[in-house]
Amino acid sequence: MKSIEQYIEIINKGLSEIAYPAHPDELYAPVRYELSLGGKRIRPLLALLACEMFGADCRAALAPALGIEIFHNFTLLHDDVMDKAELRRGKPVVHKVWSENTAILSGDAMQILAYTQLLKTPDSCLREVLELFSRTAIEICEGQQFDMEFEERTDVSEEEYLNMIRLKTAVLLGCALQTGAVVARSGAEAAEKLYRFGVDIGLAFQLKDDYLDVYGDAAVFGKKIGGDILNNKKTYLLVNALKRAQGKDRDELLHWLSCTSPDAGEKIAAVTALYDRLGIRELCEQTMQSYYVSACECLDSVEVKDVECKKQLQQLAAGLMYREH
Ligand code: IPE
Ligand code: IPE
Ligand code: MG
Ligand code: MG
Ligand code: MG
Repeated sequence: MKSIEQYIEIINKGLSEIAYPAHPDELYAPVRYELSLGGKRIRPLLALLACEMFGADCRAALAPALGIEIFHNFTLLHDDVMDKAELRRGKPVVHKVWSENTAILSGDAMQILAYTQLLKTPDSCLREVLELFSRTAIEICEGQQFDMEFEERTDVSEEEYLNMIRLKTAVLLGCALQTGAVVARSGAEAAEKLYRFGVDIGLAFQLKDDYLDVYGDAAVFGKKIGGDILNNKKTYLLVNALKRAQGKDRDELLHWLSCTSPDAGEKIAAVTALYDRLGIRELCEQTMQSYYVSACECLDSVEVKDVECKKQLQQLAAGLMYREH
């Protein structure tokens, strides 16, 4: 049995062995930069664990797992431009180190590099893996579009929010798990259950990301705290604050949402105080927990060959709930 650290080592070694052309340096240097900043490597880890859980060697799923991680990193390059972010994994974002145009084009290149890895999937399941991945990739674009549109609205429902995060975040976790299962020839029922497990874990994962954007420790989280508040992101916290706030609280919240050039620190402090007053922190924790529980139930019902791997997957899911970055 491999430890989680050993799986991570396999992933990082795989990523480091990908050879990029030397020129043009301004196209490939940001690719190397982004991929070398670390990150939790959750998605490829899920793919490898899923594969071994059904009795196959995880190396059979390594290429598509790397492709998924490269694709995830591409989404971060573009997401940081769209969200006007400054820090990623504790380091300056690509569009600040280089330029926005560089972040766009290097991101584009990363999408192609992701497909190049995915094409190395064993022939017997290549088509199935590519179809799943392509459907997921376009869903992420849809989710990102909703995320941007929602910035301009104050009437986003919880249902709309959940659909948006399912698309922008959760489906890629589901895709990673299902890919591992498909490569291991788990059978359709188990592969679909793993996808559902991934989506529920992914919803809880994005809820935690929203939570940490307000309540995290910047040094550990690796992103600037309050970025979502400054962008009027319709996070789980804001959607529910808008639903709960009455009278003066509501006026204050709407004031901060319509303020065109607020003092950043003042706005973050005021909106956070409103969340605290309205009990939003606890509500977010409860909802996170309920998706986590339904994810666990789904995973429990999957029949596997290697129960130790299943335990590792359960521990990994628990770790994602209690993460601080
Ligand atoms: C960040 O993903 C983007 C979200 C979907 C919330 P991760 O939190 O997995 O980022 P890294 O790869 O570990 O940095
Ligand atoms: C992440 O949403 C979704 C994608 C990158 C596709 P966020 O915008 O919340 O991610 P972070 O917080 O910047 O990592
Ligand atoms: Mg962002
Ligand atoms: Mg975003
Ligand atoms: Mg976020």
